[in-house]
Amino acid sequence: MAAPRPGDRSPTHPGSRSDAFVFFGATGDLAFKQIFPALLGLVRDEGFSLPIIGVARSGDLDALRDRARQSLAAAGVTDGPAIEALTARLQYVKGSDDDIETFRALRQALGPARHPLHYLAIPPALFAEVVTNLEASGCADRARVILEKPFGRDLASAIALNAIVHQVFAETDIFRIDHYLGKEPVQNLLYFRFANSLLEPLWNRDHVASVQINMPEAFGVADRGAFYDQAGAIRDVVQNHLLQVVSLLAMEPPSGHTPEAVRNEQFKVLDSIRPIQPGDLVRGRYRGYLDVAGVAPDSTVETFAALRLHINAWRWGGVPFYIRTGKCLPVTATEVRVEMKRPPQSVFGESEPPDADYFRFRLSPDMSISIGARAKKPGETLVGEAVELFASHRSGSERPPYQRLIGDATRGDQSLFAREDSVEAAWRVVNGILDESSPPLDYEPGTWGPPEASNVLLHGDHWHDPVVEPA
Ligand code: BG6
Repeated sequence: MAAPRPGDRSPTHPGSRSDAFVFFGATGDLAFKQIFPALLGLVRDEGFSLPIIGVARSGDLDALRDRARQSLAAAGVTDGPAIEALTARLQYVKGSDDDIETFRALRQALGPARHPLHYLAIPPALFAEVVTNLEASGCADRARVILEKPFGRDLASAIALNAIVHQVFAETDIFRIDHYLGKEPVQNLLYFRFANSLLEPLWNRDHVASVQINMPEAFGVADRGAFYDQAGAIRDVVQNHLLQVVSLLAMEPPSGHTPEAVRNEQFKVLDSIRPIQPGDLVRGRYRGYLDVAGVAPDSTVETFAALRLHINAWRWGGVPFYIRTGKCLPVTATEVRVEMKRPPQSVFGESEPPDADYFRFRLSPDMSISIGARAKKPGETLVGEAVELFASHRSGSERPPYQRLIGDATRGDQSLFAREDSVEAAWRVVNGILDESSPPLDYEPGTWGPPEASNVLLHGDHWHDPVVEPA
């Protein structure tokens, strides 16, 4: 665990439950898409009875309730009584993040609550101001805080931000959210690796040739132009979601079933990834991005990234880890493929098949695990074909990630949140490839990005495009 630093706060209420939920950015995109549906689930299914207070610059309580109804309608929620139960619970504080009066009003609205949970669903550039005002108004006393990703803009700003937040909150009260960690299939990577003895003998440089993680998205930036143009694919999903997936794939077995045991091993992976060099990266931008509202006309932000990572660890020496993600690609899916080494000799005199054996973990839109191998074709000759052993997961009672994570934070459970040292280590990995001044390569929407993306692949490797069957 990250060592406490001089001046760090100590936790004032370990183990206690939060007694109010406050969300900043209540009229924003994240609240609309994720927080209202998560709160609905918590209220309807989990007996969540905390007061809920939205803070935003504009509007009033009625407008906030309308916004919540619209959000839930957009999420396909039709349960009228549950919607009413949530909207009746909402309270509203209007004001700006840089005005201490907003926070005094919030302290009043909190009434008897003594352990509030504050969710900063706002751009990271505003975190420092809000945290400082929370303290100045007394709203931070015995409180917890959820900070939305990306946490900072680069390594230096993340370190500075951690220092500011630590002046007000102890690390045990800081919840850096990365909703990928709350996803069932992502947790299953951890489980499947260490609940079985099957993988461990193979999971190393002797047997694995390469690992690739693909996260194509078939949609563009749409109404998020202003946010996205400050971020780009590397800040938006690589530094956080995809490096967290790498950490679960590559980590050593945790020493036990405690949150810190797992988070320690995740940190060690992130800390041992060699910082990515510009030559390990191909950036792309879909045609039409510059016309999106909120995007600067001279923007050089990427909507696509293909890159190669190396992990400086005994287990993974020489094994390339590839990441490819982008907007406006042909499908929306997230998939991990662990490509095994080929047999040392062709015993059956067949020409080399295009693909070696592999493990494929589908993380979205559905969840499955497949093993790809060769099997003999029926007949008298020893000629084979590629087959897949396929295990798919039927959705059960798992909670959507934001619902699960907000619920965990109210109980002070940090297992599925990013720790300070891991966030900084992840920034260190990408720090040298942020803010490229040259424009990215253009690609047509609906394609797999610029063809140059294959330049990051070694040893004749190729990208494996996830396939999504039409619904
Ligand atoms: C968010 C990014 O964090 O994750 C989005 O800001 C991205 O750009 C999204 O689309 C992907 O998450 P999910 O859960 O839809 O795969």
